[in-house]
Amino acid sequence: MRDCIYGLDRQVPLIDGSLVRYVNLDNAASTPPMVQVVKTLNEMASYYSSVHRGTGFKSRLCTEAYDRAHDIIAEFVGANIRTNTVIFVKNATEAINKLSHRLSIPDGHVIITTRLEHHSNDLPWRDHFRTLHVKATPDGRLDEDHFDQLLEENHGRVGLVAVTGASNVTGFIQPIHRLARKAHEAGTRILIDAAQLAPHRQIDMKPDDDSEHLDFIALAGHKMYAPYGTGALIGPRSFFLEGGPDYSGGGTVHVVTPDEVHWAELPDRDEAGSPNVMGAIAMAVAAKTLMNKGMDCIAEHERILTAYALEKLGSMPYIKIYGETDPARAHEKVGVIPFNLIGTDHALMAAIAGYEGGIGVRNGCFCAHPYVVDLLQLPPEAIEKWRSQFLAGDKSAMPGMVRMSFGCYSTTEDVDRLVEMLERIERGDYSGTYRQIPKTGEFIPEGYTDDFSSWLGALI
Ligand SMILES: Cc1ncc(COP(=O)(O)O)c(C=O)c1O
Repeated sequence: MRDCIYGLDRQVPLIDGSLVRYVNLDNAASTPPMVQVVKTLNEMASYYSSVHRGTGFKSRLCTEAYDRAHDIIAEFVGANIRTNTVIFVKNATEAINKLSHRLSIPDGHVIITTRLEHHSNDLPWRDHFRTLHVKATPDGRLDEDHFDQLLEENHGRVGLVAVTGASNVTGFIQPIHRLARKAHEAGTRILIDAAQLAPHRQIDMKPDDDSEHLDFIALAGHKMYAPYGTGALIGPRSFFLEGGPDYSGGGTVHVVTPDEVHWAELPDRDEAGSPNVMGAIAMAVAAKTLMNKGMDCIAEHERILTAYALEKLGSMPYIKIYGETDPARAHEKVGVIPFNLIGTDHALMAAIAGYEGGIGVRNGCFCAHPYVVDLLQLPPEAIEKWRSQFLAGDKSAMPGMVRMSFGCYSTTEDVDRLVEMLERIERGDYSGTYRQIPKTGEFIPEGYTDDFSSWLGALI
């Protein structure tokens, strides 16, 4: 896969002035673009034109490409395009917010989500509806007994079940089809937030009449090698044909008179304004490349890599891994490993890895505060202390972890580079003196400032 990804040979500066190959172990946040994506966008740039209703050749060409992009995303998740629609949005957050705006449920109904969610699959539900959270087990797995209990207690009153396909913190993959069956048996529908699952595993929406059918799926292009501002929401046409769109305006209508509005067909009615044609093409090309390479092959590569990393980290007594620690169970998660270097602030560790190792990792709570706080098993006093400091504008004591996350192109050498850095940090073998900025919680090396002029100078 390394030949398929753009920019992997790029060298980046360290604080001692040397250059090293950049190691990106932050793929759960965003992945680099695929070569084929960049090539296609370069080619399409010379034909770029506004889609729909344009009569010129370039408009007709872009309209065809944009329409095909919808079909490719439907194929990527195994959706029947006759009964389902693919709506392009900006990212997974917008996809879930759109659904939360479009969903109308009777008074007294609830949404069931889980404690494992990214804030993007939690807050939009809390904004509009009474939202119940399925608990996590102490090691961070979904407590399925509690899921069953909440479904049973609220039988006939569940407006939607909204579950992540894979956690962005621990990487745990949810039994989405089993949960779908249970949701359907309880008379409701299910949304899978597939932002993390899609780049790592094959997704199969299954036929609409299958008890394990996934009703709604949210995707993020920038997590599947197409970082050009597009995500997608896939769901039943009948659902989106009910009522008007959440955003109205240009492109959403069929006929407008001074007194009347008739909405356009799907997906146009739910893609208000001029769409991000290039982003949609990028996402479709990435999806096609992933399908051609074979998701099973990618999953197997990442399983081997995850097992390798768990083995290595597990042999370091000063490392605490959260979630699954057993290399033999690496197949139960996508390639995301959260950990801490005992006795070293997570933000300091991540800073040293970046400034002195040329390695990109992420630290903090990964937009999943309740879940991370659970995993850290913080006593209530510590949570309260952190909360009040944080609200007073001081993020220095923010709890958290460091997360390494793989893409389909990651290698054991990448893991080794991070492991070596962890060993160095543990020995105190780093040169910078790091100062924490209370307002952001981040650490920066004293006496060093990034000089981006030779990187960005002519570009922007
Ligand atoms: C599981 C999960 N859901 C949703 C999101 C939000 O995705 P986006 O940034 O595309 O809105 C993320 C981002 O990290 C995520 O990991």
